[in-house]
Amino acid sequence: MFGRKSTRMRASVALGGVALLALAGCGGGGGGGEETGTAAAGGEGGGDELVRVGFSQLGAESGWRTANTESIQASLTEENGIDLTFVDAQQRQENQIRALRDFVSQDMDIIAFSPVIETGWDQVLQEIKDAGIPVVLVDRTVDTTVEDPFVTWIGSDFRAEGVTAGEWVAENFPDANIFELQGTLGSGAQVDRQEGFREVVGDDAIVGEASGNFTRAEGRTAMEAALQAYPDTDLVFAHNDDMGLGAIEAIEAAGMVPGEDIAIVTVDAVKDGMQALLDGKFNYVVECNPVFGDQLAELIQQVHAGEEVPEQTFVEETAFEQADIDQAFVDERPY
Ligand code: AHR
Repeated sequence: MFGRKSTRMRASVALGGVALLALAGCGGGGGGGEETGTAAAGGEGGGDELVRVGFSQLGAESGWRTANTESIQASLTEENGIDLTFVDAQQRQENQIRALRDFVSQDMDIIAFSPVIETGWDQVLQEIKDAGIPVVLVDRTVDTTVEDPFVTWIGSDFRAEGVTAGEWVAENFPDANIFELQGTLGSGAQVDRQEGFREVVGDDAIVGEASGNFTRAEGRTAMEAALQAYPDTDLVFAHNDDMGLGAIEAIEAAGMVPGEDIAIVTVDAVKDGMQALLDGKFNYVVECNPVFGDQLAELIQQVHAGEEVPEQTFVEETAFEQADIDQAFVDERPY
């Protein structure tokens, strides 16, 4: 999964037992984004026994992200022994870095975050390390010079997702002229999905590429431009459902039929994406599973207890063709 860059995902199991100062007075959020918490930090009423976790979510850009946030907030609860301070960085790295520094100044027991892009974390990761606070990395990956920057990581095998999409395209549309609708440039999800996909289909199959930043609106804009710039496009590989849904809007606005005139392959399998698959507007969807809050809560407790944890935990996922699903399946999909 992480073959190309040797410095990515360097991990250690050693930090889990680092003793932390339990409670310090807790300052305000400091503007790192939108902050919510399950209990007042340093608070009263048994809070001393809770593991104080600062979590920097990268944003709310997609249906996947919304489901991931809901899963994390449903699991990192007082009932599960966690006092969560959650900050939404609104897809801005500077907001994430500010939130991480706030977590250090608040002496959090554990810092968890989902990095919006891979690079640019060296300084703040060193500051967290110097403060002796274990880091749990979530969803996306980092590329850093800091030694042992985090204790454990949980998320998806983005490269495998790209390979799965590529294999389906190679089998079903071997001569396709592909427009690649990329996620946020420099994010682990974009870099690895692109690498895995192109490894299978080959660079020559790609007639054009542009980023839609993982959002529906930017996906539509990028697709509108692609229809002008690359009129021979007959297949879109969108790095997530939301951008694929934006591409549907652009293709329909241009008087074409998505799924027929231009095939669409996406990643995520959120409810709207699965409905598009059922409606014949998407042709293939590779699942990226956002629901791992329970596993994350367990990892956090293990790290806090000084137990050995795996370097990497991959969540389970699959892929769907149109024939695999029906309306009941879509209706019952929890996200
Ligand atoms: O990092 C996971 C990706 O981020 C999801 O595929 C995408 O929808 C989200 O924005």
